[in-house]
Amino acid sequence: MVHFQRMPIETEGPELIGYDNIAHNLAESSFTDLRLSDLGIDGDVSDLPLQYIDHRGTDELRVAIAADTVDPETVIATAGAAGALFLIAVTLLESGSHALICRPNYSSNLETPRGLGADIEHIELRFDNQWRLDIDDIARRLRPDTELVSICAPHNPTGQTITEEQLRALVALVENHGRARLLVDETYRELAYEQPLPVASSLSSRAISVSSMSKAYGLPGMRIGWLSTADSELYERILACKEQMSIAGSIVDETLAARVLQRREDVLGKIKPIVAERRDIVASWMERQTMFDWVAPQAGVVCFPRLLIADPAEATRFWAQLLDEQKTYVGPGRWFDLDERFFRLGFGWPSTETLQDGLDVLEKAASTLTRAEW
Ligand SMILES: Cc1ncc(COP(=O)(O)O)c(C=O)c1O
Repeated sequence: MVHFQRMPIETEGPELIGYDNIAHNLAESSFTDLRLSDLGIDGDVSDLPLQYIDHRGTDELRVAIAADTVDPETVIATAGAAGALFLIAVTLLESGSHALICRPNYSSNLETPRGLGADIEHIELRFDNQWRLDIDDIARRLRPDTELVSICAPHNPTGQTITEEQLRALVALVENHGRARLLVDETYRELAYEQPLPVASSLSSRAISVSSMSKAYGLPGMRIGWLSTADSELYERILACKEQMSIAGSIVDETLAARVLQRREDVLGKIKPIVAERRDIVASWMERQTMFDWVAPQAGVVCFPRLLIADPAEATRFWAQLLDEQKTYVGPGRWFDLDERFFRLGFGWPSTETLQDGLDVLEKAASTLTRAEW
């Protein structure tokens, strides 16, 4: 029997606290939530026959997802990236399976393999090492029976990324190692500040890519994500798992997602300059902080600073007070199984004005604390 736990990031998510109870929501990991009317596609679904659709995802959606990166026949549409990560873990892992998984990470990347009873070794990312992924560490810990190497790039919660050379080195590692597969959670790929990484599944049939509409497009409520694998046998196994869970996706969601992706350049062309502006606001704010330090993000809409105080328990109280008294919310370290003095600061979701106000509140509240290096 598998046994999954509800994670703090889920039970304490802003949607469960209540959006109306938070004035400065700096805890989100996506771009500002959009409305159908923002996208000009609200009329497109009213005449749809509400029928079952291709279990892999509609042709239209898979072609739009693939664009010029992968073959649409390698794509399976899922209920968010979370749905894809679940299907992959359940298909590849069972009790005792060896998996190397980077930490911190988006919670499902850790919790699903844990709940399945996998034998997990964490590839730790460290602030002191600029949150860099250590590929040599992965190479040392790969075993002949390793089933999965799981990374997130660009990374949540640190906003760091890897180079194309590093991605290719990881692909070569798994290709030369027993039956290991590389899972790359690419949910932030399209929010790269520079050239996006190649889609990992386009490099090797041993690499699996995952992404979604949630973060880069600000459409988490659409619940559309996808995975891509060029391994046709694995593809069939994952599809069988999806069919057991939900048969197919929703024609409404898939049609809307396809419409957005067909205008990808236009939609992202509007979003990316706003993300850059908000990132720069945080960077200038950070420059004058004495109670916080950080590693500046290289992609995406989140960063993972730390509060410079001596006691992690005091940080827990500080975050709680910040929410109760100032209605200002960040993602504390416990959401990522780390020291409470770290926190995820999501700068892509709040309006530019709310972001600025929230940072002011954070700065003022922290000025009452006693500084300590750690
Ligand atoms: C790295 C990463 N992967 C996957 C997900 C799941 O997102 P969704 O299921 O909304 O696509 C998230 C959400 O925070 C994420 O940050």
